[in-house]
Amino acid sequence: MAHFDYQNGELHAEDVPLAHIAERYGTPCYVYSRAALAEAYRAFDAAFAGRDHLVCYAVKANSSLAVLNLLARLGSGFDIVSGGELARVLAAGGDPRKVVFSGVGKTAEEMRQALAAGVLCFNVESESELIRLDRVAAQVGKTAAVSLRVNPDVDAKTHPYIATGLKQDKFGVPYRDALSLYGTAAGLPRLRITGISCHIGSQITKIAPFVAALNRILALADRLQAQGIRISHFDLGGGLGIRYKNEAPPAMADYARALAARIGGRPQTLLLEPGRSLTGNAGILLARVEYLKHGKTRSFAVVDAAMNDLIRPALYDAYHEIVPVLKNRRGVRRQRYQIVGPVCESADFLGHDRMLALAEGDLLAIMSAGAYGMSMSSNYNTRPRAAEVMVDGGEPHLIRERETVSELMARERLLP
Ligand code: LLP
Repeated sequence: MAHFDYQNGELHAEDVPLAHIAERYGTPCYVYSRAALAEAYRAFDAAFAGRDHLVCYAVKANSSLAVLNLLARLGSGFDIVSGGELARVLAAGGDPRKVVFSGVGKTAEEMRQALAAGVLCFNVESESELIRLDRVAAQVGKTAAVSLRVNPDVDAKTHPYIATGLKQDKFGVPYRDALSLYGTAAGLPRLRITGISCHIGSQITKIAPFVAALNRILALADRLQAQGIRISHFDLGGGLGIRYKNEAPPAMADYARALAARIGGRPQTLLLEPGRSLTGNAGILLARVEYLKHGKTRSFAVVDAAMNDLIRPALYDAYHEIVPVLKNRRGVRRQRYQIVGPVCESADFLGHDRMLALAEGDLLAIMSAGAYGMSMSSNYNTRPRAAEVMVDGGEPHLIRERETVSELMARERLLP
């Protein structure tokens, strides 16, 4: 079901007109649909219902407490990459026993925090990290459950900035070293080997790369078993793509079926770390047109949202659909616009060459902004970060207040 749709020519989030949200909370504003979020989680989880599995939502995609809390209530686990994300998961009521800790640069302090919280597993990415984790676990008198993140050297066929599973990438341990590193891990007294993990990239729209990565993991598990090292879970990471424009990502059910078929009757638990596929299409960025500027060759719609709010277009040349909140604007001509923000950079655009009928003061919705939108936002140009609202049926809830400029300056000091 579409949770952002027109009713009587006006774009709504569930049953709330976006114009009401703009009036009440201001713009720019992220707006999420609770139903969309719950639906995406349930669909993903249900797709794997046939086998022992755990969905560990990748917190980096959208780490707002209300989002994490909703997912925790639905039973989700979490994939974290920092002590900060762990703190968010705990503050949102997430279960630490369903948390996997990924990332190439875990500090000793972050390891201590995660051991104290009792996370399910550390996804370890290097030999040095194994050794550090063993030492930190000994210091705090605990044993750390570990999974090695292996780099399967699979081409995910996605944007180079978000492909992570090729051997030239910084992520994971090289596949050919994995066997001997498991041997090292087995010899470290404070580590307990539990899994094998991988993550090959993001916004992947084909099933084949996932299956290729899984095949390599299964082959590794067989070789480990032959050496007496038993693996209790496979973690396939995240990466399932969504539709921004005309992509045709696999249905969750087909993706799940292909993976389950490969795993067959093996007893291991399957862990998944979806981010974008759960939150991406559950949120939009609401912005208002400040100025229309007609140049000789191009026309610009300068809106009040910018690259600091949503950096994906500037960083990856990513496409986000941009639609008017009022569907049939009368009395204005449809024309080609560059949708840009007020930030002093030519990369500050949200969309190029969009055919729209616009007047100053109109509201626009930048679609599919629920993942890697707010979580990648910044204060560049001393712009307070946007407010966030979650709609539940006919009810809008403010889940994050807009920042104030004085908050931005609060930690700064002048020289004496
Ligand atoms: N697990 C690990 C270890 C990851 O590094 C990531 C994402 C995920 C799971 C979740 O992947 P997803 O299901 O969301 O594709 N900022 C970029 C995306 C970066 C993804 C980084 N890793 C963007 O806006 O497209």
